[in-house]
Amino acid sequence: MASKLRSTFTAPSCSSVFSNRRRSTLVGIAVIWILLALSILLYTHPTDLSKHWQRVSDVVAPSRALYDDSPLSLSDSTAMDRSVYNFTASRPKWLAPLPRQRPEPLIIRLAIISHPREFERRKAFRQYVLSDLPSHEIKIQYRFIMGYTDTADDRRVSQERALHNDVLVLDMKESMDRMGEKRWRMLKWGAEVPGSTYDFYMSADTDAFLRLAALARRLRGYKSQPPLPGNPRETDILWGHMGVHALHLVPSLDESHPELEDEQVDGGEWYSYPYGFGYLYSSHLVDRMTQQDVVLPHHIHYPADDVILGMWVADYAKGATVVNDVEGFHDPTGHHSDETTTRPVSWDTVVAHHLQIGEMRGLRYVEEFADEWDRPPAP
Ligand SMILES: *[C@@H]1O[C@H](CO)[C@@H](O)[C@H](O)[C@H]1NC(C)=O
Repeated sequence: MASKLRSTFTAPSCSSVFSNRRRSTLVGIAVIWILLALSILLYTHPTDLSKHWQRVSDVVAPSRALYDDSPLSLSDSTAMDRSVYNFTASRPKWLAPLPRQRPEPLIIRLAIISHPREFERRKAFRQYVLSDLPSHEIKIQYRFIMGYTDTADDRRVSQERALHNDVLVLDMKESMDRMGEKRWRMLKWGAEVPGSTYDFYMSADTDAFLRLAALARRLRGYKSQPPLPGNPRETDILWGHMGVHALHLVPSLDESHPELEDEQVDGGEWYSYPYGFGYLYSSHLVDRMTQQDVVLPHHIHYPADDVILGMWVADYAKGATVVNDVEGFHDPTGHHSDETTTRPVSWDTVVAHHLQIGEMRGLRYVEEFADEWDRPPAP
């Protein structure tokens, strides 16, 4: 059967000249048809086709979409200049390390506000802030929290997430107009466990360096005269570097246009709000602000997204203790255009803001802070 078929197909090839001309005519017509079809397709579905090409190019060059998990390796030359530090005061009492046998570490639920593209910054944070913490002093439950971007970064983020298990992608697109909503969703993450199981919810920027063990010591023993605001699981405490504002919003129940700001109420009282780069709510305060019957306004654009952090406390948790820790939470000298808001890095500096990645690394190597991690940093 097969050989018979083959002979049938090969038979016409012997009639030469006429058949060749005929074939080229047929090929010409076919090419014109294909071109015609393609141009109709391009005209009617231009984006579909470009998407298809994009997908094909992704397959051809997969490395462009892959998460690069190699550790950072930066040199000393990227650290802050020694003139930014000031350790002339004697080492404060509250900074004494806790004894090893202490049974209860301070537990912080840390939401690091991040953008999908900040791959390097998240590496720096893991390497220099979160690793090798003394577990008898502090336990950190943390997530890098971000929206999506509809770019190739989203795929890299999902690979990073599978590898590190510390990334939370919210069901919202990254947008400056939805920053208040992002902070609100981050708070909801904090409240996913009962307040009785942890001490503080904290939020920090990815360009902030946190001395977490020192922060834990400070939260326990800072200015013990007058005494501390109390047990964070039983009292409402807001801790950070405060500004003042009088913005009051009414929550909108309509989520169909989340980029629209909530309506303002005139003539409200002034209150303290924490600058957004680093602040803490006691777990008791988180529980209070996220009860079933509390609806917090959360539609506010950047840069007022940190103002609502104080508004929530002022309007929904009256009586909370506010600790304005200006020595502890600040930009180092030379790291803000307004020099009056900056100060040298000192014993008190538990959250330093506006740092380059190399400057974060430099802080991890500061000798005065060495006992705040279980191990010296990699050389
Ligand atoms: C350094 O700290 C000491 C002690 O707190 C203080 O007296 C001095 O003014 C500080 N220097 C600078 C440059 O801030």
